Amino acid sequence: MKPYDNILEINNLTVQAGEKTLLNNLNLTIPAGEVHALLGQNGSGKTTLMMTLMGFSGYEITNGVILFKGEDISKLNVYERAQLGIAISLQRSPTIDGVTLRSLLSHILRKTENADEKIIELAKLTNMEKFLDRSINDGLSGGEIKRAELLQLLAMDPQFSMMDEPDSGVDIVSLQLVGDLIKRVFTADEKHPAKRKSGLIITHSGNILNFVNIDKAHIMHEGRIGCSGNASIMLDNISKYGYEECIHCIGVGKQHE
Ligand SMILES: Nc1ncnc2c1ncn2[C@@H]1O[C@H](COP(=O)(O)OP(=O)(O)O)[C@@H](O)[C@H]1O
Ligand SMILES: [Mg+2]
Repeated sequence: MKPYDNILEINNLTVQAGEKTLLNNLNLTIPAGEVHALLGQNGSGKTTLMMTLMGFSGYEITNGVILFKGEDISKLNVYERAQLGIAISLQRSPTIDGVTLRSLLSHILRKTENADEKIIELAKLTNMEKFLDRSINDGLSGGEIKRAELLQLLAMDPQFSMMDEPDSGVDIVSLQLVGDLIKRVFTADEKHPAKRKSGLIITHSGNILNFVNIDKAHIMHEGRIGCSGNASIMLDNISKYGYEECIHCIGVGKQHE
C-alpha cells in the first residue's frame, strides 16, 4: 500500500439518481486521524454523500474520484469497502425481524477471541443488554436505535466511520452517552486519547458537536461543500443566523478558520 496523509479524498464528485443530480462537483478531504462534521439543511445531500461513499446502489458516479487511503474505491462493492475499514451508522435503521442483535454481533465478531464476553461488555457500555435477544431495533425508541447502531460500530471497530444524524431523536440527557460512545468509536488507543481514528459525523442540528471533539466542519448546500472551517465558530453562526443566512454567504470553497 502507498503511504497516505489523507484517509479520504474526494475530488470533483458528481452523483446522479436517475436524471437527478444529487452531488455536484463535490470536494472533501479528511486527513488521517481527523474527525470532521458535515452540516447542512435537510435535502442538501448529506445522506447521499454517505451512501455513495459506502457504495450503495442507486447512486451513479458520473464524474470524480473517491480515494480511501490513496486508492480509488469508487468501483468497489459495499462489502469490499467494509473490508477496507469503512463503516456507517444509519439515521433511520430498519427493524430486522427474526435476527437478534446478539446474532448480528456474533457474526461481526466471529473472528474475535472471547466474542461472547465482548458482546456483553459492549452491550453494557451502550446500555443495550436488555435488547440483545430481541429482533434488531424491534420496538426500540429513537435513542435506543442510535445506541444499537453505535454498538454495531464499536463491534466492527472500523478505521473510518460515518454516522448519519446520531443526535436526531435523542433526548438531551442521553446525548452525553451517545457522545461518549462516539468518542469511543474514534479512539484508536485508550492509553493515547489524542490518537484517533477518522470519520465523518453528519448532523443537521449540530447538537452532538458539544459532546465530541471535531477537527473541522463543512457545510453542505445543494450537493456540494459550501464552506469549511472551525466547527464551533460555524455552529455559533448557524445558531445565531440560521442556515438561511449561512447559505447567502456561501461561495463554493470558502474557508472560515
Ligand atoms: N435515490 C434518490 N432518487 C432521487 N432523489 C433522491 C434520492 N435520494 C435522495 N434524493 C434527493 O436528493 C436530495 C438530497 O437528499 P439527502 O441526501 O437525503 O439530503 P440530507 O441527508 O442532507 O437531508 C433531496 O432532495 C432528496 O429528495
Ligand atoms: Mg439525511
